[in-house]
Amino acid sequence: MNLPRLSVRHLLGIRELTREDILAIFRTVRWIRDECSNQADRRTILAGRTVVNLFIEDSTRTRNSFQLAESRLGATALNVTGGGSSLSKGETLLDTVRVIEAMDIDAIVLRHSAACAPHFLASRCSSVFINAGDGRHEHPTQALLDTFTLFERWSDASRPDATGFEGKRVTIVGDIAHGRVAISNIHALTKLGARVAVCGPPTLIPRGIGDMGVEIIPTIEEAIEGSDALNMLRIQLERQKQAFVPSLAEYRHLFGLNRHRIARARRKDVIILHPGPVNRGVELDAETADSPNSVILDQVANGLIVRMAVLALLLGRRDSRTETPKEL
Ligand code: CP
Repeated sequence: MNLPRLSVRHLLGIRELTREDILAIFRTVRWIRDECSNQADRRTILAGRTVVNLFIEDSTRTRNSFQLAESRLGATALNVTGGGSSLSKGETLLDTVRVIEAMDIDAIVLRHSAACAPHFLASRCSSVFINAGDGRHEHPTQALLDTFTLFERWSDASRPDATGFEGKRVTIVGDIAHGRVAISNIHALTKLGARVAVCGPPTLIPRGIGDMGVEIIPTIEEAIEGSDALNMLRIQLERQKQAFVPSLAEYRHLFGLNRHRIARARRKDVIILHPGPVNRGVELDAETADSPNSVILDQVANGLIVRMAVLALLLGRRDSRTETPKEL
């Protein structure tokens, strides 16, 4: 196989990717899923590679899906967390990474609470870096799996020049200010040709968001009415002591999604995404989270294969026996 070449060596953010990079990732996702489905063939893609998952912040979805993706592609995966490593004894992040690199590894998947931590390391170290979420900055694989989930619904094989996002409006609802998922999604959706809007309490909408080409929608009712998809971001309970919203009950009352709100909308087929973890009863009620509009578990399933595609493109062998992914 000739895996497509990305314009970047690392996946630091969606901002650094071109539209063609994103479409090459999507094409590779479909190729791995549909044409390279044999487990033995998949395991040749990263055979002999070692990937370190360095998670200095909690994670369920991202860490576990990277680990599974690495193992299904035949890589050796090493898992390092802040608590169980010498970081807790005062070793710097850079020293920790240099120690890990001395063990002859190929790539580091990094989650860290500091914005641009992977950029800092990528400019000083030799490994390939994949950003698994850096502070409030970016969460690129989350945006890739979110937009791939929409791409599956909207792309049309009879229109190969279109992404399917043209003319579609996607509204990101909730905590935009602390949301790395929001920033990465805005970059990805804009590059794919969608109209992007945000909706939430004014304290959680950053000033200057309009400079990214984003509309601001004041109410959840207007957002439901005018959007093809809603991405319901998590209200970060750990930050609520700073009182960005008066109470979670008020947030739910003003911005929470429930079946009554969806039932009143003209658009009954609006797609509901949530990156997780979901605060059931806050961003959306349980009935909505489990409704036919919701693609939350599709996002998780797509996340695994999107991360396989990213790893394959950044680290994979380019001489596999399997066919090249076809043009979209
Ligand atoms: N969406 C997301 O990043 O979830 P985790 O924190 O569980 O990885």
